[in-house]
Amino acid sequence: MRICIGGTPGTGKTTIAKRIANDRNIPHLDVSALAHERGWIVERDDDKDTDVIDVAMARAYIGSYDDAVIDSHYAEMFYNDMIIILRCPPRTLYQRLSERGYSAKKIHENILAEILDICLINAIESKGKEKTFEVVNENLIDAFSDVEKIIETNDVRLSVKHKKTVHFLTEENLVFLHSF
Ligand SMILES: Nc1ncnc2c1ncn2[C@@H]1O[C@H](COP(=O)(O)OP(=O)(O)OP(=O)(O)O)[C@@H](O)[C@H]1O
Ligand SMILES: [Mg+2]
Repeated sequence: MRICIGGTPGTGKTTIAKRIANDRNIPHLDVSALAHERGWIVERDDDKDTDVIDVAMARAYIGSYDDAVIDSHYAEMFYNDMIIILRCPPRTLYQRLSERGYSAKKIHENILAEILDICLINAIESKGKEKTFEVVNENLIDAFSDVEKIIETNDVRLSVKHKKTVHFLTEENLVFLHSF
């Protein structure tokens, strides 16, 4: 099974994907790290302070694995059996991204994307609601256990088709977004 762990930068994809892969004894494919190691970076987007990768090369490489945990901000781009989108409340995400030393502009963009559910919407558009799952990663133990349950059961009742999704588009979060 190819399990994709997606989400805005800092939501905890690598932290969780590594552990899931380790526990299941399947490869952890960190697309961003692989892009650097294997030379898939085609250009630098200075405006977004990010690297643009050759998606066809990444897809071809990932497609050679039948079982893997795929860890990518662009989860929907890779063939997979399920997408689990990690979510993180804006204030917590702010702390995590500031600790990484990201610029205020980059933190702002990422928090806006989180508030607007960009990763979740992209996953649903590509995979459909039945194959898209959402897990809030604030407490790591709880998040890990939620992810494990989704993978173990693959129960559609846990998918966003049946579960209410998070709601970060609040006045408080928008005020926070404009405070830095
Ligand atoms: N539940 C959590 N509680 C506290 N800290 C966490 C939690 N989950 C992740 N972190 C921390 O947040 C930071 C970001 O996590 P991580 O690197 O796993 O995110 P990511 O989604 O892989 O980011 P990127 O897209 O940039 O690769 C790390 O320092 C990690 O240790
Ligand atoms: Mg990561």
